[in-house]
Amino acid sequence: MKENEWSSLNEMIRICRKCVISGERKNVVLYRGSLQAFVMFIGEAPGKDEDETGVPFVGRAGKILDKAIADTGLTEKDFIIVNVLKCRPAGNKYMKIYEKNCISYLNTQIEIISPKLIVTLGMHALAIFSKEKLIKNIGIPIRHQEYTVIPMLHPASVLHDPRKWNLWNDSWNALKTYIEHKKIINEK
Ligand code: URA
Repeated sequence: MKENEWSSLNEMIRICRKCVISGERKNVVLYRGSLQAFVMFIGEAPGKDEDETGVPFVGRAGKILDKAIADTGLTEKDFIIVNVLKCRPAGNKYMKIYEKNCISYLNTQIEIISPKLIVTLGMHALAIFSKEKLIKNIGIPIRHQEYTVIPMLHPASVLHDPRKWNLWNDSWNALKTYIEHKKIINEK
C-alpha cells in the first residue's frame, strides 16, 4: 500500500516539468533509506553528485551526514533522507520559485512515510516548518502539526566553516539523547 503510493509519487516527480531546472537535470533525486523509517532527514537540494546518481547526499556533505546518523545508533531501516527540491538548482542557487513548485512532493513524502521525527538540515528545510531562525534553534524540537521537527545545521556548513564542528557535534549528541530519551523506536 505504502509502497504503491510511494512508487506513484516517484513516477509523478520523474516526469515533472514545472521548473526550468527540470530541463537541466540528469536525474531527479527522490530519496535514500527505508519506507518504514521513523526518522526523516530533509536536506535542501541535490548537488552535482546527487544529480549524477539520483541519490541524495552522496557527496562530501553526505559522508559527514552518514557518520553523524550512524553515531546516533540509527540503522538503515530506521531513517529516510529526502530533499526539499528534487532537481539540482541551476548555478547551485536555491530559489523560492523552485520550492513553490516542488513543495507538494515533499508534503506527500511526509504524509506517506508519516515519520515520528523530522530532522531538517539547513535553513531552507527549516523554513518549510517554522519562521524561526536556524542559528537560535539548532537541536531544539518544535511542533509542526502532528510532527516533531528538530532543526539541525546543514552538513555542508562544517565543510565551509570548520569552526562549526563543535556546534555540529553538540547538536547531534543532543539529537541522539532526544531519540534515546523519548524512546522513539521503530515499531512500524
Ligand atoms: N545538499 C543537500 O541539501 N542535499 C543533497 O542531497 C546534497 C547536498
